[in-house]
Amino acid sequence: MNFQEVMALAKRRGILQPAYEPYGGVAGFLDYGPVGVRLRRKITELWRKHFVLGFGALEIDSALIGPEPLFRASGHLSEFDDLLVECLECNKLYRADLLVEGEGTLDRRILADAVAGKKCESCGGKFDVPRPFNLMFSTSLGAGRGTPGYLRPETAQGIFQAFPWLLRQNRGKLPLAAAQVGRAFRNEIAPRQGPLRLREFTQLELEHFFLPGAEPEIPKRLAKMEVRLVPVNGSAGTETIADLVKEDVIGSSLVASYIACAWKFITACGVPAGKLRFRQHGKHEMAHYSSECWDGEVETSTGWVEVVGIAHRSDYDLKAHGKASSREFRAPVPGTGKKINTWLPDKGAIGQKFKSEAASVLEQLVEGAAPGVEVGVSGTTHALGREYFRRVSATEPEMIYPHVVEPSFGLDRLLYCILETTWRSEGDRGWLALPEMLSPYYMLIAPLMARDGLDEKAREIHAAAMFDGVDVFYDEKGSIGRRYARADEIGISRACTVDYQTLEDKTVTIRDRDSTEQQRVSIDSIF
Ligand code: GLY
Repeated sequence: MNFQEVMALAKRRGILQPAYEPYGGVAGFLDYGPVGVRLRRKITELWRKHFVLGFGALEIDSALIGPEPLFRASGHLSEFDDLLVECLECNKLYRADLLVEGEGTLDRRILADAVAGKKCESCGGKFDVPRPFNLMFSTSLGAGRGTPGYLRPETAQGIFQAFPWLLRQNRGKLPLAAAQVGRAFRNEIAPRQGPLRLREFTQLELEHFFLPGAEPEIPKRLAKMEVRLVPVNGSAGTETIADLVKEDVIGSSLVASYIACAWKFITACGVPAGKLRFRQHGKHEMAHYSSECWDGEVETSTGWVEVVGIAHRSDYDLKAHGKASSREFRAPVPGTGKKINTWLPDKGAIGQKFKSEAASVLEQLVEGAAPGVEVGVSGTTHALGREYFRRVSATEPEMIYPHVVEPSFGLDRLLYCILETTWRSEGDRGWLALPEMLSPYYMLIAPLMARDGLDEKAREIHAAAMFDGVDVFYDEKGSIGRRYARADEIGISRACTVDYQTLEDKTVTIRDRDSTEQQRVSIDSIF
């Protein structure tokens, strides 16, 4: 199937359609229907298995709107933009990189020069000078003018700002992986590719924090995997992921671990390995926070589609938030530390001297207070001598900003790629060959014909299954062949048919989606 055919199927079968259809649709927004919601949930569950459980990640669900200082610190206010170019004749707006070959890989200045030589695709007019357009949606928090806020352009910032809290939840220990599933928003200039470029989309993100010099090794279960890589320089043969790190083709063992894990996950979603590759970003293609990045791309009828970015973000984000908030975003380096002598207030001596004012005196003694410090008591200033302090020695560890590696999936794009690449056809039969785990329903329940009590019996089986928490789909409309065809098109792995024999001996037929073979079994054995 090509892009148009996938989109037609998705609309026809309740997977997804453009949002706000009665109002003509709004580019960049989607509605997911009953089948789409189930598919998204199943893909997300499979992602959780591979990434959240596989790496022992803590999960978080952070706010969708963030204050301006957060995005000033993260660099999104100043760096997160596309180069926008306007036709001087008809005022049509374009993304500059889409007008020039080598999309995304060119330096900004070269891109601006290249656009100057182009003409408007609509009217042939000349272009104005390109200018940056920030992709964040802005809003205002509170009444009146309020204070500026932005819809998050990535779920990652919700994790970074919560790092000190998450570190405490992890008993102060690194490495620490944190994961989040949620919507993100980007005001794309001219999104026209359905789920492939959205203004509101869902990310499945994980941030794996570690101390430099103590980067986690590749887990044994992933080290021997072979994946298809397209590095910036040269090419990679068929080598294990561990060897690719040894040879410096991949610069980080954690990046390599996530490439291997993503490969496992994407192929477990049914995408054929032959249609998958990991392509390294060139210098000008990388986001402002990245020091190394690989995109997992799936080959589709529209070209290679990025479904995951695996980026080494170094200490860029934690350092930025630590500095902007003046809070502690660093972590202690185990085994380091220098001995320091310090003064601690002697609570007993202060209590005896200042009685009911003692609490107020102690409150005034900030960290590092030493003999000679002045405090105010009932309007009078007192200098506290040595008798109010104890000399103690402590070991202060070295504090540094952890580094982070991020695998970040776009759920909507992944779902599209699964639909296109799992589609199979034979004659006039077509079906989604989804893996069992992604089947939107456990099974189709259908009476052979909607009469003679067959429909009643089938509805009874359906209701009993739903009551037991088994998600099954009931269909009695049209011929049994049409009903199988509709179930095949949304990838339901099996169909249970109630026929005349069912009424006699409590057996049904179970039809396999891929082979279409049927077996007769007892009703009691189907769930
Ligand atoms: N957090 C990575 C991205 O949003 O692309």
